[in-house]
Amino acid sequence: MKSKASAPGKVILFGEHFVVYGVKAILCAINKRITVTAEKIEENIICIQSNIGKLELEPNKDVSKINSPLKPFYYLANKIIKNKNTGIKIKVESEIPLGVGLGSSSACCVAGAAAISRLFSNISKEEILELAIEAEKTIFPNTSGADCTVCTFGGIMEYDKKNGFSKIKYEPDFHLVIANSNIKHSTELIVEDVKLFKKNNENEFSNLCKDERKLVEDVLELFKKNNIKVLGEKVNENQRYLETIGISNEKIRKMIQIGKESSFGSKITGAGGGGCVFALTDDTNLNKTINQFRNKNYECFSVKIDLEGLNTF
Ligand code: PMV
Repeated sequence: MKSKASAPGKVILFGEHFVVYGVKAILCAINKRITVTAEKIEENIICIQSNIGKLELEPNKDVSKINSPLKPFYYLANKIIKNKNTGIKIKVESEIPLGVGLGSSSACCVAGAAAISRLFSNISKEEILELAIEAEKTIFPNTSGADCTVCTFGGIMEYDKKNGFSKIKYEPDFHLVIANSNIKHSTELIVEDVKLFKKNNENEFSNLCKDERKLVEDVLELFKKNNIKVLGEKVNENQRYLETIGISNEKIRKMIQIGKESSFGSKITGAGGGGCVFALTDDTNLNKTINQFRNKNYECFSVKIDLEGLNTF
């Protein structure tokens, strides 16, 4: 018997970094997915295969000693097959580039938790989310759980530290062109850099938080009106704040410039220092924006909001 599940990646539309200091962020699930297939096997082993490699281990190993990006799958499989006298084989297929802030690890944890657990019982999305966050903590101990939440439920979500998550019911009709700088970033290190910026510029940082808070409130209103053009101006404004706190670099600035040429606005998504930028478009300027990136040899692809979230087959 096989069990299959898929979960979408995500982008942070607004509020990255400032969210660490209590401001609201807006996240969006994107229609690029990770699909996980799980299968019981007779041999007492946990075997994980993906396009980034293979991990094959007996059950009951100390997870903290495993040095592999596939560790969350091992954690999930080991927990779920406990006392069940079976081994497990897991196959991972991905449409999401890894390590560039597009939620690949969260999508893996959500799809993995669903595919493996549903070999044994039909647990709810809420329980799957709980398992997925536990698994993600084996690689990112400080995760807020925001990424796993948006990958599980899909759509657009607002998140802040105090109030947690809530789904935004409006579905603005935009496309995002995502361009990859191919510079891998460490979110942890960049968060530390921003902490230092804050320490050296307390007043400026506090004003930026105020401005970002206002910007996010404006954005929530624009979603209701489906006003993509003015939303683009907010994207550019948010990018200026991210520039100010020092998470951009020469390559990203070039990419943002290209993104802005024919889209409504362009910004970093996620931690910055590398990773991805997006350009906000609708049907009228989508192809032109893609071509502009490709003509300058930047890898890019377009996405829409994923409304489905976790899907099991
Ligand atoms: O690089 P990503 O997409 O995982 O985004 C990190 C978002 C930050 O706001 C920079 C950090 C955080 O924990 O919210």
